[in-house]
Amino acid sequence: MIRIDAGVGGACDPPRMADIRLRPWSESDIDLLHAANTPAMTAHLNGPETEDEIVERHARYLRLTATGEARMFVIEDEAGTALGSIGHWHVVWREEAALETGWFVRPESQGRGVASAALALLIEDARAHREGRRFLTAFPGVENPASNGVCRRNGFILAGTFTEDFRGAELTVNEWALDLTTQNGVSSPGTPVP
Ligand SMILES: CC(C)(COP(=O)(O)OP(=O)(O)OC[C@H]1O[C@@H](n2cnc3c(N)ncnc32)[C@H](O)[C@@H]1OP(=O)(O)O)[C@@H](O)C(=O)NCCC(=O)NCCS
Repeated sequence: MIRIDAGVGGACDPPRMADIRLRPWSESDIDLLHAANTPAMTAHLNGPETEDEIVERHARYLRLTATGEARMFVIEDEAGTALGSIGHWHVVWREEAALETGWFVRPESQGRGVASAALALLIEDARAHREGRRFLTAFPGVENPASNGVCRRNGFILAGTFTEDFRGAELTVNEWALDLTTQNGVSSPGTPVP
């Protein structure tokens, strides 16, 4: 279990989650994927997946977490209530082995800093399990302000944009990258983001 006392934000800032933790994805977590598969929750992901795709996603989370190719987590509050999900998995980014991260937070828990605090925890986990990979990347849609805000708040650098085919339609995404080899995520002079 990984935990954080978020403690971010000054007196004038909106309320922040006092305490969240990440626990590994388990057999019983498929309903969390159903909760995230609504039209509203997938508005920036070209819409919901089919039931077969949800079942396959759940199986993939378990399989890749078991083999070490991914580390998928449930975001929980102190009482053990599932607030959302976050994880990281192996990718090749700009011809270099890297990690990619992605997340969601249930509607009733949004707007309280949950995703930002969860990503801070996830970055610690990625640093501990990067196995030589330098960059943690994220690819939110360019029109997804909350997800881009989560990247910005956690020190990711905006490295570009690209358009890809995603769930059967075009999606233009921002390329965010965090250098896991430095404590603040920003590369030293002479080691630019590729
Ligand atoms: C994206 C998502 C995880 C954000 O979760 P959250 O817990 O509400 O995010 P936070 O409260 O940590 O907010 C993160 C930042 O985004 C900003 N933000 C949140 N909602 C916003 C909105 N609708 N418009 C603009 N900014 C927004 C916050 O102000 C915050 O910025 P700050 O740190 O500068 O104050 C959540 O909206 C979600 O699950 N959406 C649906 C699934 C999804 O899009 N997943 C991402 C796929 S890439």
